[in-house]
Amino acid sequence: MNTLNHFDTPQLELLHRGKVRDSYRAPSGERLIVVTDRLSAFDSVLETPVAHKGAVLNGLAAFWFEKTRHIIPNHVISLLDPNVTLAKEAEPIRVEMVVRNYLTGSMWRGYQQGQRSFSGVTVPDGLTKHQKFPEPIVTPTTKEESDREITPENLVAEGWVSAELYEQMRVKSLELFNFASQWMAERGIILVDTKYEFGLLDGKLILIDEIHTPDSSRFWSAEDYARNPEAAEQMDKEYVRQWLIANKQDGQYPRALTPEVSAEATRRYLDIYERITGAPLRTSDEAAGGDVRARLVNNLVQAGIMKEA
Ligand SMILES: Nc1ncnc2c1ncn2[C@@H]1O[C@H](COP(=O)(O)OP(=O)(O)O)[C@@H](O)[C@H]1O
Ligand SMILES: [Mg+2]
Repeated sequence: MNTLNHFDTPQLELLHRGKVRDSYRAPSGERLIVVTDRLSAFDSVLETPVAHKGAVLNGLAAFWFEKTRHIIPNHVISLLDPNVTLAKEAEPIRVEMVVRNYLTGSMWRGYQQGQRSFSGVTVPDGLTKHQKFPEPIVTPTTKEESDREITPENLVAEGWVSAELYEQMRVKSLELFNFASQWMAERGIILVDTKYEFGLLDGKLILIDEIHTPDSSRFWSAEDYARNPEAAEQMDKEYVRQWLIANKQDGQYPRALTPEVSAEATRRYLDIYERITGAPLRTSDEAAGGDVRARLVNNLVQAGIMKEA
């Protein structure tokens, strides 16, 4: 298969199967994050994987972790395969640090219903859809069954994080966001919003999870936004979403994509990767005859993490 829908192996302990990523325990005790080609839209995972999406997301996260090392250390140990990151196991802080520079998404929906205070940030009346804020804002949520908007004061009062750590996370999140916004702006991409997750390693704050990927962020094309701000759409997934909406049957979204739609989604992910990193994604799986899973297993065997099946 030239796609990776899920990665199962009896050789490794499964830690967590997320919507898109499968995390395992490496024999060394470290965390093995397998980024699959699954795509989640309208809160459900499609049956059709999107070729190269996993490598694009893993590659983008790796690119940004490396580029932002001077701002904060992170969990990456190494990339064992285009789809796999070996990471240090941290003690996760159960808070999502959401940074926003534009009024959109769930915040816009709340705003339309009259909400003016978001996780402790108060915004004025009269804002329009997709309006840019004077400066990026941080609207944290808790990480639980369903994420909850919460003020920094309550995060501390409820014991999710100490005031001192929260302040460090806030400062680092804004630094990361401003750094990436500028980089992307120079490449015609608007970093609309994103979320960061942090953890403690030997008592020190590090960045974990993923960073500045299309699954953890919104990207708009600067050109689209300049033409008509309210019509700006997510560069990656919106195309798939629109197709799902157009092909609804009996009130249900299709659960699979056609080969053409899936191929176009691949093209868009590869394009974003190249625009941001400046180089095309190396997608060659020739050593494994085009089979992503075979290549992946081969790389994990080489790394001493799996045995030959
Ligand atoms: N280095 C790490 N150490 C400990 N936990 C981590 C690390 N990196 C990510 N995590 C946690 O692993 C989980 C990954 O879940 P994820 O793949 O995002 O699935 P979903 O969010 O769809 O449930 C998150 O709870 C995240 O906080
Ligand atoms: Mg997640």
